[in-house]
Amino acid sequence: MILVLSASLHPESRSRILANTAKSKLEHLGQHVVMFDLASKSLPLCDGMTCYGDPNAQELGSLIEQAEAVLLASPVYNYDVNAAAKNAIELTGKAWSNKLVGIMLAAGGPGSYMSAMGVANSLMLDFRCLVVPRFIYALGDSFQANELIDPQIEERINELAEEIVRLKSAMTR
Ligand SMILES: Cc1cc2nc3c(=O)[nH]c(=O)nc-3n(C[C@H](O)[C@H](O)[C@H](O)COP(=O)(O)O)c2cc1C
Repeated sequence: MILVLSASLHPESRSRILANTAKSKLEHLGQHVVMFDLASKSLPLCDGMTCYGDPNAQELGSLIEQAEAVLLASPVYNYDVNAAAKNAIELTGKAWSNKLVGIMLAAGGPGSYMSAMGVANSLMLDFRCLVVPRFIYALGDSFQANELIDPQIEERINELAEEIVRLKSAMTR
């Protein structure tokens, strides 16, 4: 199973469109994909204590543990993933151990293109994740209404999906 984790809390999120596009592509490649959308499953803020008992936090932790790969789709907020994505990682901690991870970002401008590196570093250093070195970085003009209209971003999502499938089967060998 591949888990797609959509972190935006915005009702008309663009990173959620990236998440749904990747989900469709992975399904087209024959993969079983589960979507966990933080906009519809709210999580408590991590307090390092009682938060771990929250049913949604437990569900997410268990999905991450079961997943052969996790695809994180997030907005860029302040040159980083949003706080909801960071909080989800704090809540689920060790479930990420040795996980294959892909990262897709929606951003407002071209200058924040290295914003995946903070979360990529923490996942690599804290949990020995293998972060696929193919990031998706999409700006507003790649979307119209609720659709991705940029063939280059679509192609990059295709490449990321194919790479995830290739690496996940290599890792289970
Ligand atoms: C609090 C906040 C901080 C933001 N910081 C950045 C930033 O550092 N760099 C950037 O390119 N865009 C930034 N943006 C713009 C968002 O990345 C952009 O609106 C994106 O589409 C949000 O993703 P979403 O549509 O999936 O919610 C910021 C937006 C907000 C609300």
